[in-house]
Amino acid sequence: MTAKKLFIKTYGCQMNVYDSERMAEAMGGEGYEVTDRPDDADMILLNTCHIREKAAEKVYSELGRYKGLKAARPDLKIGVAGCVAQAEGEEIMKRQPMVDLVVGPQSYHRLPELTARTHNGAKAIDTDFPEEDKFAHLKGRSKAKRAPAAFLTVQEGCDKFCAFCVVPYTRGAEVSRPADRVVAEARDLVERGVREITLLGQNVNAYHGHEGGLAGLIRALDKIDGLARIRYTTSHPNDMDEALIAAHGDCEKLMPYLHLPVQAGSDRVLKRMNRQHTAESYLRLIERLRAVRPDLHMSGDFIVGFPEETEEDFRDTLSLIEAVEYGSAFSFKYSERPGTPAAERPQVPEDEKDDRLQRLQALLTKQQRALQDAMVGREVQVLFEKPGRLPGQMVGKSEYLHAVHVESSDLAAGDLARIRIASSGPNSLKGVGLGA
Ligand code: 5AD
Ligand code: SF4
Repeated sequence: MTAKKLFIKTYGCQMNVYDSERMAEAMGGEGYEVTDRPDDADMILLNTCHIREKAAEKVYSELGRYKGLKAARPDLKIGVAGCVAQAEGEEIMKRQPMVDLVVGPQSYHRLPELTARTHNGAKAIDTDFPEEDKFAHLKGRSKAKRAPAAFLTVQEGCDKFCAFCVVPYTRGAEVSRPADRVVAEARDLVERGVREITLLGQNVNAYHGHEGGLAGLIRALDKIDGLARIRYTTSHPNDMDEALIAAHGDCEKLMPYLHLPVQAGSDRVLKRMNRQHTAESYLRLIERLRAVRPDLHMSGDFIVGFPEETEEDFRDTLSLIEAVEYGSAFSFKYSERPGTPAAERPQVPEDEKDDRLQRLQALLTKQQRALQDAMVGREVQVLFEKPGRLPGQMVGKSEYLHAVHVESSDLAAGDLARIRIASSGPNSLKGVGLGA
């Protein structure tokens, strides 16, 4: 039997990247091979994101592009997975009748059986939050060799209910995977060539699948021979406990880079966002982290133009950014999400949001560039991932997640090497090897 072909397009966060891998593996058991070309696929699956309106709308324009393919080959199956599937369910099929299958992020272990149900034009939909653990029901991971850096989902869902956010609705309540299963999956990844693991969760530092919390899990993973680096993302300031802060000080494999979203720097806005912390408590937390790990690079998420945000509120965000000095950051204009409390409130005009986003990003870019430029002359450790664009070049990531290019004929993907940074470009660093 010739293999059927599956094309998966992934939107949104790293958890979707992980989920897409797992869906591909689940469909591998049904005789599907992954293709990177939609036009020769037997099944097209969009793994979607609902976090902002733009992301959600992209799904429909993408589906529109496949109309011709579906008309020419009615047996082509088209599926929508991920958070838009969860949020909009059968509405998707009403808007785009060519969609055969809709599956939410908590039920994609049922993808093979759902696909089987789509014979002869029948539709299948599953947006349950099932009792069973999808991870326990997914087939074992394939044994194929892997790239050196991998994601591993350890926690899903969120109980925080920030007033702007759809995650508690699309991904459900916080659930943690048991530590022994995470450790087993990590060992398996390492056997397949992985040297760096990023633990994923919508609220990963609320992880409770180990009695020692996320710090306990990190220390358990630290013992795996061959695993060189551990990262985790994304976190809430209120879940940074003492044990996790201490791990940043003494756990060598835990990288000195922390994504800790604050969203805004004005206490008034933070309160309206239901963040349950203040700008000051966030700054004190970073002080404590930097006391144990002075070279920690901070990353964050920011929303500008949250309902009723004033120019003064916005300036508080700029001041907070000045105080932290971010090594990297993601920033967004507030986007009204149906069903969330903030969507009902007085909105900031679009041109105001544009203006604030520009000013915020100018400051963040300046900081990022300054921290990146400050790496010149320093020695870093790079995990090489793939060849660079120029011949003879390899590219990898430093401890601080900077991309580093090195010209070398004897470096291979998966190598960890000491590198001296020679220069800093717009998006990456250049370095030279220092030998073993
Ligand atoms: N509008 C804009 N940005 C949002 N985010 C979450 N919800 C919204 C929204 N409604 C951002 C937050 C979050 C990141 C993943 O996406 O900054 O941390
Ligand atoms: Fe959304 Fe993060 Fe707030 Fe949870 S903590 S509601 S995922 S922004």
